[in-house]
Amino acid sequence: MSRPDIALCYGTRPQVIKASVLRRALARIGSVLAVDTGQHYDYELNALLYTQLGVEPADVLLEVGSGGHAEQTAAILVRAERVLVERAPRAVVVIGDTNSTVGCALAAAKLRIPVVHVEAGLRAADALMAEELNRRLVDAIAQVLCTPSARATGRVRAERCDAVIAQTGDVARDVLLSVEPRLPAPAEAGPVGPGPYGYATLHRAELTAVPERLVAVLDALAGLDLPVVLPLHPRTRAVLEARTPLTRWAGRLALLPPVGYLESLALTRGAELVVTDSGGVQREAYWLGAPCVTLRSETEWIETVELGANLLLPPEAAAAELAEAAERQRRRSAGGWNRDAYGTGDAAARVADSVAGLLAA
Ligand code: UD1
Repeated sequence: MSRPDIALCYGTRPQVIKASVLRRALARIGSVLAVDTGQHYDYELNALLYTQLGVEPADVLLEVGSGGHAEQTAAILVRAERVLVERAPRAVVVIGDTNSTVGCALAAAKLRIPVVHVEAGLRAADALMAEELNRRLVDAIAQVLCTPSARATGRVRAERCDAVIAQTGDVARDVLLSVEPRLPAPAEAGPVGPGPYGYATLHRAELTAVPERLVAVLDALAGLDLPVVLPLHPRTRAVLEARTPLTRWAGRLALLPPVGYLESLALTRGAELVVTDSGGVQREAYWLGAPCVTLRSETEWIETVELGANLLLPPEAAAAELAEAAERQRRRSAGGWNRDAYGTGDAAARVADSVAGLLAA
């Protein structure tokens, strides 16, 4: 077994999407060991992406599955360390802010293997949110910080004068641009008719932890003046089903199993309105020109709000204010905003350039 130049580590659905372009770009500058932690394992959440995006299967599967934060992160840390010791890559590339990101980065740093953090420099005000803890920890120990935006660059410049900082843009845009020409029509992607429809996704722990709030959000979505398609993350579905029969929203909300990446983009592109708590969907709506209401009190992707593509609404206000916010956002934004806040779609090549610099040093 030869020693790889780079271990590329990922584990959740959005990371598999981003890893698809990163892996190709990194393979141009060195040998790549692709490590999937298995944080997401359901077919719709993960495996379907391999088919849709033509992603090569990972070289190593850590198969950690679900668990509490400590249990899941610890399993990733232990299993990643084993692989990193055995294969001894010269650099480790991690993406974003999940438990997979922090587990793999920490295992590498403790072994003195330089870490490259893709999507560095994002911050939320809630310092104890799981993702915020993860991204701050990884930004603190990475040797190369690849940022998606000017604001993120400024932040890590102030924090990390000892690190290499590269403003690469967002690899999620690279992937989107590469698949955009082959997106299906909305009606082929989900149960939508010829008229206007809304597209919603809800999965964050902060929302699912309060079941009555989650139910109130679905009631508010069902009260909008257009039908809404809502694929359910497994955890969101489980929380709802424990609380109330899903038939409560029959006829107003089309509740689906998780849809594929291409279907999600197609539904976003055709939507009159997007309602989400996902960072990925916020940016996809921004790039595809769909007005978005984000059910959070803050966002790491604040440029989308500043440019008029996105409106923040705290979930606890959704019951009373969603209809008005949705109306305001549909009137306010006609999709004519500048779409380049996170680069122009060459982020993976720029990340690879930074990694090449690290390997050459
Ligand atoms: C994780 C990330 C989140 C990211 C999201 C992307 C962390 C702390 N959170 O959230 O930042 O936005 O991925 O999708 O890493 N489950 C399944 N099947 C699966 C995976 C999960 O049923 O394949 C269920 C399990 O009940 C599990 C729950 O979903 O306990 C939560 O999964 P987990 O991986 O802990 O976090 P996500 O909410 O998916």
